[in-house]
Amino acid sequence: MEETIKQELLRKDRSYVWHPFTQMKDYDDRDHVLIERAEGIYIYDADGRRFYDTVSSWWCNLHGHGHPRIKEAIRQQLDRFDHIMFSGLTHAPGIELAEQLVSITPAGLNKVFYSDNGSTAVEVAIKMSFQYWQQIGRASKTKFAFLDGSYHGDTLGAVSVGGVQLYHSLFKPLLFHAHRMPAPDLRQARAAGPEGEREVAETALAQVRELFEREADTLAGFIVEPMLQGAGGMIMTPAAYLQGLRELCTAYGVHLIADEVATGFGRTGKMFACEHAGVSPDIICLSKGLTAGIMPLSATLCTDDIYDAFYDDYATQKTFFHGHSFTGNPVACAVALASLRLFEEECTLERAQDTIAALAEALGDIARLPHVADARQLGLVAAFDLYEDAERRRPFPPERRIGAAMYEAGFEEGLILRPLGDTLYYWLPLCATPDDIRDIAARTKRVLRRVLG
Ligand SMILES: Cc1ncc(COP(=O)(O)O)c(C=O)c1O
Repeated sequence: MEETIKQELLRKDRSYVWHPFTQMKDYDDRDHVLIERAEGIYIYDADGRRFYDTVSSWWCNLHGHGHPRIKEAIRQQLDRFDHIMFSGLTHAPGIELAEQLVSITPAGLNKVFYSDNGSTAVEVAIKMSFQYWQQIGRASKTKFAFLDGSYHGDTLGAVSVGGVQLYHSLFKPLLFHAHRMPAPDLRQARAAGPEGEREVAETALAQVRELFEREADTLAGFIVEPMLQGAGGMIMTPAAYLQGLRELCTAYGVHLIADEVATGFGRTGKMFACEHAGVSPDIICLSKGLTAGIMPLSATLCTDDIYDAFYDDYATQKTFFHGHSFTGNPVACAVALASLRLFEEECTLERAQDTIAALAEALGDIARLPHVADARQLGLVAAFDLYEDAERRRPFPPERRIGAAMYEAGFEEGLILRPLGDTLYYWLPLCATPDDIRDIAARTKRVLRRVLG
């Protein structure tokens, strides 16, 4: 890009744009990296520098940027029609995608309600569960439970069931009350020895049982990020916990809501994270990878039992009065269908297994470096924590802003890294190859050396 054009764009960025999750003052003396193009796993900036997209553009991208089949699907759909409303009208991409989602998600999720981002998929789940209990004569069931460290989005319903203090505590006066439950963390489980995983799961489940004993009559649903709590710090949880939670939710009549906005569509090595535990939730929330990370779209799927509680004569007022302007956007649905076809044609999940193995090897290597502790992996997601003294888990002083320094140094080494505090992680696209992984790991080691010496 010509230098004058670049400088003018960056000036306007400073003048007009407020970036998300960003202290804009941090950019008083430097610019955002201006992106000019993206292809496959790479993103290129206006100076032609190339970066690995190790976080899949906020955990969305699956098949790489600019995939020709996805672009073709957009073109073809635009030639037919662009956005039309999805209430009182319907269309082939929305219908066919719903059919496919029902067939690939865990058993029993038979109805698809579209919206347009992860937070709204969660809002839909919460309202759907709430209204269900009202309509079957269990009006006292109005409350929700969630896990400490969970993140379900930034709208107020999603924040009410959010467990990350930094993002959520300020907004408390605006939120509805929900029960915060301890999350069984695989890091503690491993520290506790060979039985640790079972023990940590059982301890956390005992607390859920206690809550349900006391509160089942007031509880509508329990929302979880199955197996992997992303924004809370890449907290990985045992499959046994999810299995036990499913059993308890069934026994006590509480909806199990699985937020697979981030984990869905192959990221954890299986199509959905719930499959690691062989669990079917009552409601599942999907977004991000739904359109291979290319278009905004989300879907909330539920069981027939939930759907049936809304199905009645209009006069009974059981309609689910919820919808967004861009619900079921046809171009986004066409992209989602193209992405699902790619899973079959390119054997995406099967091919990813070699990459997942390469990632395990690379992570094992990184885990031996000084300052690194608690390396962990689920599929194409891998994380480790950085400490001043890793042995004693003594953190770096916050003013060193290690995460921010890693992010900056990443650019120098051709990596887009987006640490969560002092937790460094990869959230790789499914198109990553074992060679990419080895290169990314070598570059990460150089980043660690730059920042930590
Ligand atoms: C598990 C989970 N749920 C919900 C959301 C919210 O999605 P969105 O940012 O599209 O609103 C996110 C976003 O990162 C997420 O990780």
